[in-house]
Amino acid sequence: MMKENEEIKKIYREVIERIRPAKEERKKVKALTDLIIARINKKASEMGIEAHAISVGSTARNTWVSGEADIDIFIMFPADMSEEYLKEKGLALAKSISDRYEERYASHPYIHAYFYDAEGRTEHEADLVPCFSVKDASVLKSAVDRTPFHNEYIVKKISGQEEEVLLLKQFLKCVGIYGSEQRRKGFSGYLCELLILRYSSFIELLRNASKWKYGERIDVESRGKYKGEGKDPLIVIDPVDPNRNVAAAVSLDSFCRLIDAARIFLACPDASFFAREKKKEMSKAEFVKCIEERETEFVMVLFEAPDVVEDILFPQLRKAEASVTSLIERNGFRVYRSDVSVEGDKAFLVFELLVWTLPRVKKHAGPPITSKYHSEQFKSKYPLRPVRIENGRYVVEVSRRYTDVVELLKHELRSCSLGKHVSESIDRRYEVLRNEEIRFFEGLGSFLRDYFTP
Ligand code: UTP
Ligand code: MN
Ligand code: MN
Repeated sequence: MMKENEEIKKIYREVIERIRPAKEERKKVKALTDLIIARINKKASEMGIEAHAISVGSTARNTWVSGEADIDIFIMFPADMSEEYLKEKGLALAKSISDRYEERYASHPYIHAYFYDAEGRTEHEADLVPCFSVKDASVLKSAVDRTPFHNEYIVKKISGQEEEVLLLKQFLKCVGIYGSEQRRKGFSGYLCELLILRYSSFIELLRNASKWKYGERIDVESRGKYKGEGKDPLIVIDPVDPNRNVAAAVSLDSFCRLIDAARIFLACPDASFFAREKKKEMSKAEFVKCIEERETEFVMVLFEAPDVVEDILFPQLRKAEASVTSLIERNGFRVYRSDVSVEGDKAFLVFELLVWTLPRVKKHAGPPITSKYHSEQFKSKYPLRPVRIENGRYVVEVSRRYTDVVELLKHELRSCSLGKHVSESIDRRYEVLRNEEIRFFEGLGSFLRDYFTP
């Protein structure tokens, strides 16, 4: 036991050494943060805007993994301003001080900016987010108004436990469940910090997580009002807003992956849990061989990725996946597994099929013989076909419209409910490809590697 603990400590020391920002990096981040804030505040007063910038997020709390953080700056507007004013002035202000930027938003407008160093290389990425300076985090005006309260709360409490947060973030990154974006549906940075506050250390969190049950409830301040509807696998009450679940974005599978990874690590602690191995991309030859061995059919619906942020796109892709799956199964084929992704400028749905071709003949069952009225209706509908009786019902044979799943998708895809942007892109153009017809564009090889070897 003693030896094991020493072993774990040695692993931690090595990992921390690697992922904790060195003095140099901390100085650089601090300087750039201060510079951005000063530029915003100066510009605001020049433009006659009553707003000021603050530093939030992991760079304000010393909980960022070396080389991987963005600088999060919130631009605080008085709460009595209108939303249009916040959006117009906030974005204009943020753009005016950025070297290069993208306007990005799902539910709330903000600017993702890039700042260059002296040699003109990108030095750092930053999120510049306008928000309202509200009195209390439970009376927000916009979706992000809680953030300054989160920041205040964590800054006050986390001191001394930053390294535990770093271990947790790195661990989750390596398991592939860090980040609350729709693509991942994992654990956000703020959630990591709260989990460490609750369990006090990374290892204690793992010990507890290895025994979690669905609906696990964590309430650091013991004042949660949030009930949930029995659908959240994990409930972590927001200390600054007792009505909110900070873990609302954590999917069932992300929750289970943490439990599983915790058990494996505790049974056999290993530094590889903190190392992000770059899995080798699957080649086309490997893919074709793999499908041949599985004896399934692999069908891809490929189209141009709509020009919207991933947090909007992914829910639409998953909606499309569900509705196409139902189309396929309604037509008699069988889906074994499916998935969606966006790689570069391409978006796609994939379906791996157990049944992808069917005979032309299809059984069409009619009413029970004893139902006289409906029986007559049925017979008059099929005057020319032989009608037989099976288990007390009339049965006719009809000709199946689609005997091949690719034919089905080529003709009927547009009848599915696909989500606004996905639907528009598919209306412009899409392809349905099977097995070796699938071209290996950038990013597909690593998607398939993950698909076949989790
Ligand atoms: P980040 O996503 O940058 O997370 O959000 P982080 O905590 O700084 O972690 P890393 O190290 O960059 O991965 C910054 C802050 O913005 C708020 C959160 O409170 C977070 O602390 N936020 C983020 C929101 O309010 N809404 C969001 O959709 C995302
Ligand atoms: Mn951040
Ligand atoms: Mn950010």
